[in-house]
Amino acid sequence: MPDVVTFRAPAATDAADLWRLARDSGALDLNSPYAYLLWCTDFAATSVVAGTDAVTADGDAGARGRDADGIVGFVGGYRPPTDPTSAFVWQVAVADAQRGRGLGRRLLSAFLARPGNRDARWLTATVTPDNAASLALFQGLADDLGVGCRQSERFAAEVFPVEAGVHQPELELRIGPLPPR
Ligand SMILES: CC(C)(COP(=O)(O)OP(=O)(O)OC[C@H]1O[C@@H](n2cnc3c(N)ncnc32)[C@H](O)[C@@H]1OP(=O)(O)O)[C@@H](O)C(=O)NCCC(=O)NCCS
Repeated sequence: MPDVVTFRAPAATDAADLWRLARDSGALDLNSPYAYLLWCTDFAATSVVAGTDAVTADGDAGARGRDADGIVGFVGGYRPPTDPTSAFVWQVAVADAQRGRGLGRRLLSAFLARPGNRDARWLTATVTPDNAASLALFQGLADDLGVGCRQSERFAAEVFPVEAGVHQPELELRIGPLPPR
């Protein structure tokens, strides 16, 4: 039976799951648990979580592609004070077992439909040049919407602390202008 995925606003009780998803993502910088709490509360209107009630053929709920509380993906975002016509994707992640099925794409659509993002004219994000899945995700959104996806360097590698190890530069993707929603 296919998983039924629902999209909703995050709450403080989701923050630990988001921290775990980020930790296990294999690609994201892991922020502090407190940062995810702020995200799930102060930035709830511009963020979204995906939950699923995975059910196997024998009716055993929760066996497949599901973390402890059923959160299988999230987008944490905000409206940058310096660029308020944009909705910025701070982090996006999909649980490993759920990847490659279009969930990332659906999460971005749900993100753009959030009350705090509905009037945004642009979606912005930063991506490291080696993250093929993320680049494909954002380019696919731009293609589906029939709008551009401009790339520029946002943060050079040198601005990251050397003590934290080698960090790739962060490219900014600017998708839009977005159609009215
Ligand atoms: C990036 C991520 C969220 C994508 O989620 P997903 O649910 O697998 O994505 P989708 O299934 O919706 O696929 C979206 C597009 O990306 C492509 N894609 C997905 N995984 C890919 C991969 N590993 N390599 C190349 N392309 C990939 C899909 O083919 C699809 O392209 P299409 O629109 O042309 O068909 C997921 O891989 C992830 O959580 N990665 C770890 C965290 C991360 O890197 N976040 C982004 C940081 S900016």
